[in-house]
Amino acid sequence: MTDFKTLDELTDIAGKRVLVRVDLNVPVRDGEVTDTTRIERVAPTIRELSSKGAKVILLTHFGRPKGKVVESMSLEPICHKVEEVLDQGVHFSSDCIGDAAVEAVADMVDGDIVLLENVRFYAGEESNDPAFARQLAENGDIYVNDAFSAAHRAHASTEGLAHLLPAYAGRTMQAELEALEKGLGNPARPVVAIVGGAKVSTKLDLLMNLVGKVDALVIGGGMANTFLAAKGTDVGKSLCEHDLAATAKQIMIEAASNKCAIVLPVDVVVAREFKVGAESETVDIGAVPSDAMILDVGPNSVSTINGWIGKASTLVWNGPLGAFEIEPFDAATVAAAKFAAEQTTDGLLTSVAGGGDTVAALNEAGVAKAFSYVSTAGGAFLEWMEGKPLPGVDALSR
Ligand code: 3PG
Repeated sequence: MTDFKTLDELTDIAGKRVLVRVDLNVPVRDGEVTDTTRIERVAPTIRELSSKGAKVILLTHFGRPKGKVVESMSLEPICHKVEEVLDQGVHFSSDCIGDAAVEAVADMVDGDIVLLENVRFYAGEESNDPAFARQLAENGDIYVNDAFSAAHRAHASTEGLAHLLPAYAGRTMQAELEALEKGLGNPARPVVAIVGGAKVSTKLDLLMNLVGKVDALVIGGGMANTFLAAKGTDVGKSLCEHDLAATAKQIMIEAASNKCAIVLPVDVVVAREFKVGAESETVDIGAVPSDAMILDVGPNSVSTINGWIGKASTLVWNGPLGAFEIEPFDAATVAAAKFAAEQTTDGLLTSVAGGGDTVAALNEAGVAKAFSYVSTAGGAFLEWMEGKPLPGVDALSR
């Protein structure tokens, strides 16, 4: 695991200007923040620094404005939500560098919080331009990165700054890295991974990495169909990447040589239409009607999956087992999630989950809080599961 400094080592910070990289890339609809999870996750770091008398200067991106000022991607509306969550005043600076930022920071008193405007309004952010990073660094004495979910980007505010100022991991970054270490870095065995989602093509690197690391890999969602078809099963009208049959076979060969069990559905829920209340039936995997689609794994498959979860000490989960957004095709995901949550609550399992759909599925099952750790990161969590280096994390290393 990366050896990084935490806020425990950051003493005597009263009056110091601390640049904190957070990820306030939150979902917004009609100008309203619809989910405050990411704000809540970074609140402990902000509060801790502010209560110790630091001048807390928040840096973040929002959306993908591609180096230009895009009004709809201003952080000003989000600033109000941050105030609400923190229950503390947050000043807003209309620029992240230059006179406006310098003045906003100069006006701060100890314990104040300032949110700087979107760093991606400058092309230098994404190109990790050293001159832009230096301009950001001018407003700080210390750098804290609390944005694991942006750590897969080698940008000026996520990577460059860490080389210009004394760099520390914030509390959320610390918690995330510790949880991930328990998940795949140095896990208690047996380790089971559940990977679902629509397409094998988007998760090839992830599957290849996992078969070398885990004891069992449960494959669900649309991507299971590609594996089943590669083994000669007729999947009817199901979503399936037939052109990836050879790749799926290669993954199964790699798994066998690493003694990693591949767990595929033995029964499935099928329907002719994908809509709420569509007529559905459960069939054995060898009996999928040619005019039907597989939309969830069946109860016997759930028993098998729960059997694996029951034997596991560690579970890593990315992606739902079925088309969970439409009832009744959420049943398998909900049942497995509930069982994993129980095992975790009973102290038998360390459960780490992440990725957009996964968090939504666990929330729907009402079990997200019972998991050992649920990551709010999308791309960064996937790249971690793929075994790729994360520049924002590496830059924090001592
Ligand atoms: C995310 O939402 O996953 C992060 O904020 C990263 O955003 P990006 O994919 O635009 O870099």
